[in-house]
Amino acid sequence: MVARVIPVDPFDLVIFGATGDLARRKILPGLYRRWKEGQIPEGSAIIGAARSDMDADGFRALVGEALQEFLPVAELVAETVASFLEILNYVTIDARGDGGWAELAGLMRKDKVRAFYLSVAPALFGDIAKRLKERGIAHRDSRIVVEKPFGKDLETARALNASLASYFHEDQIYRIDHYLGKETVQNLMAVRFANILFEPLWNAQYVDHVQITVAETVGVGGRGEYYDHSGAIRDMVQNHMMQLLCLIAMEPPSRFDPDAMRDEKLKVIRALDPVAPSEIVRGQYRGKDGDDYLTEAGNPDSRTESFVAMKLHISNWRWKGTPFYLRTGKRLRSRASEIAITFKEPPHSIFGESNQWRENVLVIRLQPDEGMDLRVMIKEPGPGGMRLKDVALDMSFAEALGDDLDIPDAYERLIMDVIRGNQTLFMRGDEVEAAWGWVDPVLQMMEERGDVPEPYEPGSAGPEGSLMLMHRDGRRWREMR
Ligand code: BG6
Repeated sequence: MVARVIPVDPFDLVIFGATGDLARRKILPGLYRRWKEGQIPEGSAIIGAARSDMDADGFRALVGEALQEFLPVAELVAETVASFLEILNYVTIDARGDGGWAELAGLMRKDKVRAFYLSVAPALFGDIAKRLKERGIAHRDSRIVVEKPFGKDLETARALNASLASYFHEDQIYRIDHYLGKETVQNLMAVRFANILFEPLWNAQYVDHVQITVAETVGVGGRGEYYDHSGAIRDMVQNHMMQLLCLIAMEPPSRFDPDAMRDEKLKVIRALDPVAPSEIVRGQYRGKDGDDYLTEAGNPDSRTESFVAMKLHISNWRWKGTPFYLRTGKRLRSRASEIAITFKEPPHSIFGESNQWRENVLVIRLQPDEGMDLRVMIKEPGPGGMRLKDVALDMSFAEALGDDLDIPDAYERLIMDVIRGNQTLFMRGDEVEAAWGWVDPVLQMMEERGDVPEPYEPGSAGPEGSLMLMHRDGRRWREMR
């Protein structure tokens, strides 16, 4: 099934940091795919802006190579690549000085949507925003896009918000969390709010607990130095995991619109209890040579976690008493992101004690093999009385929707939403601050108790302590396949 393409208005998109890793790996290949699908109209321009001294042809060559490197050969149609490269331009720019800004201003056209993508270090957000505004390059309806990390704690996030707010209104600021651009993450909302089936059960009366797992097989690799200043709590929990938690736990918004959605997500974050010290486990993969976190991080004394598991409580009417268990880590057994909602036992069993009841679980697989799986009890076929068995009502989206299902990359979707002016899948300033406001005391607690992460074997399911976190409650993590 080929995705339906909704055209956007012609635009001028300026990518700051256009020669960097994210631009080459995700942003430019994503734009090429949208061009290939015919979603980017003629008359649009993509302008790379970076420190490197090169001309437009040099930039086109660099982008051509990036497309070769990061897209499957089958997607590269020579004519389409050539026409895409033609809409590219380049300006050498000094984010903190005067160089290049007049030239950039000269390239912007009247009556086009203007979007500025800041794929640069957060320390430059304010400098760039200031120049865009003061030199009249950005207008009231222009959009500015910023990437994570959006701060490293509440204070730095507030400072970033304040510096952007000096030049742009909140309705112009698009803070990316690429998890919200994932097709299956959006599907969480469809499952919850487009079906009557689940909502009546979606509360502490019927849900025993929720597990959210984002497991990766990769280590920190070449990002060791950056990662060592961050760790799994800042890198994954404050943003991606928090967004998943919000989508599962939020009240139904009155409309699928940016503020209605974000108001509800914000309420979830504000209802989170502080994490108790005994309800968080941090881990670090420790193996040989290339498989060792300390070696990859280049810091033999590092106390940064590459894994974290925690038990969260949401203090509101819907969820009081239902724990949410989160775990995420690198160099684990498998790459699997999923959310599992485990329902409570029926109040009374009419089938007698010989029939062991198994939990009803709704599993939403986010990646890979996107799909849903609902475990239900049925009668085991054949004679011998009423024997029960649990089976999976398993649906793989690829099978259900067709093998040629073309799931766009998160970045493709998000960039097109920026051009459309739709902020629904972007984080609002108060949401980001609330998430840091909850994470900060967790980090402080770790710091104060001089916590050393528990070692775990690369390729395992994480440290022993994470299993214990569940065992203590008479529960267990779903297996990492
Ligand atoms: C990024 C983190 O935001 O998300 C990375 O910085 C992580 O450490 C990545 O690997 C995971 O994204 P995905 O889309 O591969 O699940």
